[in-house]
Amino acid sequence: MSKSVAIVTGASQGIGRATAIRLAKDFSAITLVARDRKNLDETAAAVTAAGATPLVLDLDLSDIPAAKQVADQTLAAFGQVDALLNIAGAVPQVDLFEMTEAQWDSALALKLHGARRLAIAAWPSLKQTKGAVVFMSGNSALFPKAPYAAVGTINAAIVALAKAFSDRGITDGVQVNSVLPGPVMTGRRRSYLAHWAPLHNMTVEEATAKFPQEAGISRYGEPEEIADLMAFLVSPNARWMTGSTLRMDGGEVKSI
Ligand SMILES: NC(=O)c1ccc[n+]([C@@H]2O[C@H](COP(=O)([O-])OP(=O)(O)OC[C@H]3O[C@@H](n4cnc5c(N)ncnc54)[C@H](OP(=O)(O)O)[C@@H]3O)[C@@H](O)[C@H]2O)c1
Repeated sequence: MSKSVAIVTGASQGIGRATAIRLAKDFSAITLVARDRKNLDETAAAVTAAGATPLVLDLDLSDIPAAKQVADQTLAAFGQVDALLNIAGAVPQVDLFEMTEAQWDSALALKLHGARRLAIAAWPSLKQTKGAVVFMSGNSALFPKAPYAAVGTINAAIVALAKAFSDRGITDGVQVNSVLPGPVMTGRRRSYLAHWAPLHNMTVEEATAKFPQEAGISRYGEPEEIADLMAFLVSPNARWMTGSTLRMDGGEVKSI
């Protein structure tokens, strides 16, 4: 394997962890970013077992200096950045009329600005390596709902942000895409179901069983399925794909 370096945010669990482990087959080194050190260390052990060298950075990406720290420490450890996968997200699932200013600010600070800052911080190296960036959005960008208004709003903004980066990437040789998963069974999905259940007069167990049918799909997605898509998007096979928004959702979106 030639030397190649990826940064994965949200690597402590869920889709980010699955992506880091999947990328360990294709990349020689992976920087793992999230806040929970213990969970990150577990991901790092799996990355090592899969054949890549991990660098664990337990940082809060909503803090402004964190993005530069991630880029600088990755360059100090591995010398380059070939792929950046912006997966971290924790947008509160709160009603449009109840969400506080502080909740809006913290949601934007992580998922939108944290990802934007990290792409800018890693860009000079990505430009040198002719690298690739993936931004994580979500199907809620296409159908924002009042009970979770910030989720859809910020995911739509992420799609636009990725498009803007891809525009610059055409001249700079950096490929940029965004991904919209449907319902994937992770900790975040479980917390969504805990919120969704009482709104539909169900227990969480009933809601978990019923939700795929309500969403018009046959089952939940697995984090590893999204990880395979992420790995494709930063692989040589996807080199001419840029400025695209890819859905992987089991058919949740019914329109063409
Ligand atoms: N699951 C789905 O159905 C679904 C659907 C569409 C889109 N998505 C998107 O996919 C992404 C991953 O979701 P998931 O389902 O895998 O969720 P998850 O299991 O809750 O993982 C979220 C990740 O973000 C990290 N994170 C949260 N706040 C952070 C902060 N301030 N600084 C750094 N890292 C932070 C978490 O790590 P720490 O807590 O350790 O910091 C964790 O690694 C999110 O952007 C989500 O919106 C998920």
